[in-house]
Amino acid sequence: MPFAYYQRLSRRAQAVYRRSDAITSVAVPGVAALHPHVAALRAALDAGDGAAIARASFAICAGVCRALGAAPPRLEIHAVRPRGATHELHGLYAPAVDGPPVIRVWMRTARHARVVAFRTFLRTLLHEVLHHLDLEVLGLEASFHTEGFFKRESSLFHQLVPEATREAGDPGSTRGAAGPPRTRDLRGTRRAAPATAIGSVGSGKEVAMPKPITVAVAGGTGTQGGAVARLLLQRGHAVRALTRRPGSAAAAELRALGADVRQADLDDVEAVRRALAGADAFFAMATPYEAGVDAEIRQGRRAADAAREAGVKHLVYSSVASADQETGIPHFDSKAEIEAHVRELGVPYTIVGPVFFMENLIGPWFVAELRAGTLALPLPPSRPLQMIAVEDIARFVGVVLERPDEFRDRRVDIASDSLTGPEMARILAEVSGRDVDFVQASLDPVRRRSTDLARMWEWFDQVGYGVDVERLVRTYPEVGWHDFRHWAREQDWSILDVAGPEQPTA
Ligand SMILES: NC(=O)c1ccc[n+]([C@@H]2O[C@H](COP(=O)([O-])OP(=O)(O)OC[C@H]3O[C@@H](n4cnc5c(N)ncnc54)[C@H](OP(=O)(O)O)[C@@H]3O)[C@@H](O)[C@H]2O)c1
Repeated sequence: MPFAYYQRLSRRAQAVYRRSDAITSVAVPGVAALHPHVAALRAALDAGDGAAIARASFAICAGVCRALGAAPPRLEIHAVRPRGATHELHGLYAPAVDGPPVIRVWMRTARHARVVAFRTFLRTLLHEVLHHLDLEVLGLEASFHTEGFFKRESSLFHQLVPEATREAGDPGSTRGAAGPPRTRDLRGTRRAAPATAIGSVGSGKEVAMPKPITVAVAGGTGTQGGAVARLLLQRGHAVRALTRRPGSAAAAELRALGADVRQADLDDVEAVRRALAGADAFFAMATPYEAGVDAEIRQGRRAADAAREAGVKHLVYSSVASADQETGIPHFDSKAEIEAHVRELGVPYTIVGPVFFMENLIGPWFVAELRAGTLALPLPPSRPLQMIAVEDIARFVGVVLERPDEFRDRRVDIASDSLTGPEMARILAEVSGRDVDFVQASLDPVRRRSTDLARMWEWFDQVGYGVDVERLVRTYPEVGWHDFRHWAREQDWSILDVAGPEQPTA
């Protein structure tokens, strides 16, 4: 008997449903090789060890997919489950649209933030893997929740946990006694479904686990550092996140994901040195946006000094693209000073120079205008702007950290795309489903708030970043770069429907 929703499907979808229903098991060749990873997952969940949970989950997901001839999807293990009106979400599969397919699984319950029980967690992971296999191996046009699907899920679970076959019942089933599973689309996951992402890391190709290293991350509670910390945890590395406020919500989120949160102000060389002791690498950055460029220079230099004193083997400093081009922009020139200091220290280093973040467009400077239907940039309509998705910074930094010899003592500027304002507006309108028109904004209000930022926009117009995006993308395809449309598709545009309290800050 098909589930009730079968009647509401088109004839074509009903045919797919019937094919899915007819396949009741899946045999994984060489499954015994995965049993140690299953045991590791059980132990990691018992210990609430986020990094080990991620490592074991990657190994299981990649192992099952490869054994069955599918490229593994990207896998993200998130902290606390999102809660809907009636239930909490356990897992989610987003098939490939422009980017790679993605599985998301949450490791803690929404209500008490407790680590999810082993069986439930593994069943959820396998459930999402099965959606992937439906599309990639069985060649189904859509992946429906059918009786056959749940039998395949059970057969997979029992191959991975053979002792469960001997035990009564199957309490870990994602289907449960009450009906359908708590995953996103009860009527099926289609290839054409738009992928949505909540910060993401890695790509299918990257699932092969690298040798784990310990990385200290400055700014882990912020935009770039947060993305880097999450990526490294997902890749199975140990992360020490440096913050002045270990009690903040952002620090708690990192801790829940498995980071070792350490209190260290970048102005305090001794505290940073202590936090770095024994770490293999240090991802460092400083910001001018709290206490100005002099503080940024001081903190950046002190962070680098601490790396040398702690004997860190690889210092990766996040600067800005073109900082070495004497731009005359105060917060670029400040980074040039820090870079000069880093080069003189004798610590093996890599300087990464990101261009303008795509995320700026949904931040305080631009979101109010976007809500009013305009993308207001202080640039002429014909002037392209190079941009980068923060996720791409993290992925590139991940590549650099995992291949230190290749990047030793190098400076690499990075960008994901280059578009004019009207081109961006067209994509934003198309993807968000709202009116978005480009408007060339005056520089005067920017200048009143910050002469530094006004100078930057002038330079964007008169000179501009010079990253060879095509070459970069060709050279490092493993980063899975986001072009602007791909990035835009991954954003939650409902932010444009609510009035926000954001005010620009300089
Ligand atoms: N936005 C762009 O388009 C763009 C492009 C290229 C480069 N950049 C550069 O990126 C940097 C900003 O990065 P972001 O946006 O990731 O920063 P962010 O989101 O504003 O976060 C700042 C981070 O720095 C930490 N921090 C600040 N002062 C600290 C101190 N004294 N000691 C220890 N930690 C400190 C904060 O941690 P706690 O508060 O937890 O201590 C927080 O994690 C700037 O230098 C900017 O020029 C920006």
